[in-house]
Amino acid sequence: MPQIGLTRLNQPVVVPMPSPAAELPGWVQESLLKVERFMEEWLRDQGLPETLRDATAYALLGGGKRLRPLLTLQCCVAVGGAEAGALAAAASVEMIHAFSLVHDDLPALDNDALRRGIPTVHKKFGEAMAILVGDGLMSMAFQVLCDRHEAALAGRLCRELAVGSTAMIAGQVLDTLGGFEAGLRDRQRLERVHHNKTGALIKASCRMGAMASGRDDAASLDAMTRYGEAVGLMFQIVDDLLDVQQTAEHAGKRTGKDSEAGKLTYPGVIGVDAARREVARLLDEARKAIEPFGKKAGGLNDLCEYLSVRTK
Ligand code: IPE
Ligand code: IPE
Ligand code: MG
Ligand code: MG
Ligand code: MG
Repeated sequence: MPQIGLTRLNQPVVVPMPSPAAELPGWVQESLLKVERFMEEWLRDQGLPETLRDATAYALLGGGKRLRPLLTLQCCVAVGGAEAGALAAAASVEMIHAFSLVHDDLPALDNDALRRGIPTVHKKFGEAMAILVGDGLMSMAFQVLCDRHEAALAGRLCRELAVGSTAMIAGQVLDTLGGFEAGLRDRQRLERVHHNKTGALIKASCRMGAMASGRDDAASLDAMTRYGEAVGLMFQIVDDLLDVQQTAEHAGKRTGKDSEAGKLTYPGVIGVDAARREVARLLDEARKAIEPFGKKAGGLNDLCEYLSVRTK
């Protein structure tokens, strides 16, 4: 992915861009550029203090696979909408995701120094700014939806995003601090964590894409829910596997950290082979969910396949 945008801000922030998109299917390049440009221009126009704007640009525009926005755009396309109509929704889910990563890396949570191949936001700008950047991205995500959609659709999209974000935070609490109800086995705890901390926002990304098309109905939303749930759980299982199997250099973030921190993970609880089988089962479920959309779901088919085999 070329380094776009940042230099067009008043104060350029130089961010070395990893190229994670190299492993994504070729057709995504154009969509990625649209999402990147949309977020960059929207951020530039907010009149934020330079320090906050630059730190937010660093967190939001500095790379990343952009899988959630791609899912949003392709879910819109699958139900017959135009990609451009889902750009604000795509940006909003990426803003929540970026916020979740900035806070996830903080010393009080995972205490990580490397993200997307570059220093984490608190390492680069200090802890206070990292907390505030996360707070800001959270509120901007809802602002962009209200700015770009009429009230009724904005309300639906905001609610969907809020549900996903609240679940993400609940999942982060369970993952970091525990607090499960009594009587759950490890496998059930693990599902509870993964469905919430990662699955819920991915499900929201999919449902919001369908909503933004203006053509969603109960059946299409139900299909996107099933696709999003399968892909969402698969996403975190693969993230757990990569933590075990990849080098930090390749992943752009510290690896081998989950077992060190005593986290519940799929490879830890059911083993690497069973975790891989679970990924294959979920891929099958995801594909089945989008069958009714036929050719229009070609992009979603490519994305779920990629998500099952990604190496970073
Ligand atoms: C990493 O998410 C954190 C999880 C939710 C597992 P991604 O793998 O989507 O991170 P980026 O955005 O591509 O860096
Ligand atoms: C992060 O999960 C999930 C969220 C940010 C909500 P991880 O802690 O496993 O993500 P990485 O491995 O640091 O990217
Ligand atoms: Mg974490
Ligand atoms: Mg982490
Ligand atoms: Mg992880």
